[in-house]
Amino acid sequence: MACELLPLFLCMTLAVPLLIYVITNRRSSAAGHGQWHHPPGPRPLPIVGNLLDLRGGNLHHRLASLAHTHGPVMTLRLGVVTTVFVSSRDAAWEAFTKHDRRLAARTVPDTRRALAHSERSMVWLPSYDPMWKTLRGIAASRIFSPRSLSAARGARERKVQDMVSCFHQRALQEVDIGHVLYHGMFDLLSNVLFSVDLHTNLREVLEEIVALLAKPNVSDFFPLLRPLDLQGFRHWTTMHMSRVFDIIDKIIDCRLDEAIAIDDDDKRMDVLDSLLLLMSTGSLTRGQVKSMLFDILAAGTETTKITVEWAMAELLRNPRVMATAREEMKTTLGGKETITEADVVRLLYLQATVKESMRLHPCQWHLSYCRTWRWRTAATSCPRA
Ligand code: HEM
Repeated sequence: MACELLPLFLCMTLAVPLLIYVITNRRSSAAGHGQWHHPPGPRPLPIVGNLLDLRGGNLHHRLASLAHTHGPVMTLRLGVVTTVFVSSRDAAWEAFTKHDRRLAARTVPDTRRALAHSERSMVWLPSYDPMWKTLRGIAASRIFSPRSLSAARGARERKVQDMVSCFHQRALQEVDIGHVLYHGMFDLLSNVLFSVDLHTNLREVLEEIVALLAKPNVSDFFPLLRPLDLQGFRHWTTMHMSRVFDIIDKIIDCRLDEAIAIDDDDKRMDVLDSLLLLMSTGSLTRGQVKSMLFDILAAGTETTKITVEWAMAELLRNPRVMATAREEMKTTLGGKETITEADVVRLLYLQATVKESMRLHPCQWHLSYCRTWRWRTAATSCPRA
């Protein structure tokens, strides 16, 4: 029976995007006769749009080569989703200074809808949402404020020292730098957030969840197919995020039990304590606390790992720059075995090297926003076809 229904199911699956394609195509051409028309771009095919134009090689290289032909502000249709790519400094400047309010919402990938995470996450909520303002304000004052950052300095320096020792111990051996950095950064963040080394599989699960974000998902190109979750990505993310949230739940329960047992005077005040204090006054829900901790762990690990890996690779490719950076370290640190944040402030050449490496290899090569209403920049004001 299931086999007999398969062709029918496939036809229906294909018919839906086709229908959407026809409708959206009509709408956009109708809009083209009014006020709004899209910037230029390669001609889209029915249903798949320009997805085939992105085949072969690195995605950002393909996009750069298309932008070379069609301009720094170009339209591509990814499945049925019309997407405007802004790829030059000037166009990006214009978009994010003049039209910032209109681009206030990130495009939410379907996997991030798992467990309704996107509805209580400062990363995915649009910045005009009052909850985004609350969460962002809490993160700014309780996690990233100068006071909180300086309180966590000891934990950061200790964990950086652990990473340096790990490299020392493996001198003259093959080392997977990315692996050591990811683990080190995860330990660093878990110490800053929870004041403990998390000996759970949270690190590995989190890495897999973040990696899935980079994989193309049919549900993002054909939103009407979302409920079917054809590749099973949302289902997979739901299962794995439940595991992450369960672990964070246990950490919260432990801390709440500890809070009852420990005398007030002996209490430390880490990020989790601050968030639980806000939870006890009703300013945050338990779900929001878990999402915020998840966001920080996810946003801070892979980004740092990629940035340092690229900086190391660029130093190896440029022996002259490597020699200058080493010389600066030798003169600034003297014979010191350990490095502190106060030392880093004085390593200006090293800082410039990392910044240049970030410019050459941004860890996130695209930032995806959805417009909250129609916008048009000088660069996009192209003549009507
Ligand atoms: C070299 C390391 C890092 C790089 C290159 C980096 C890069 C970025 C980028 C490009 C964004 C998106 C900005 C946007 O959409 O406008 C972002 C957002 C964010 N990053 Fe980082 N990041 C790094 C380290 C960290 C660390 C260590 C943390 C946490 C401790 C962190 C927490 C966040 C958060 C919470 C957001 C979302 C902010 C919001 O949406 O309001 N990042 N980061």
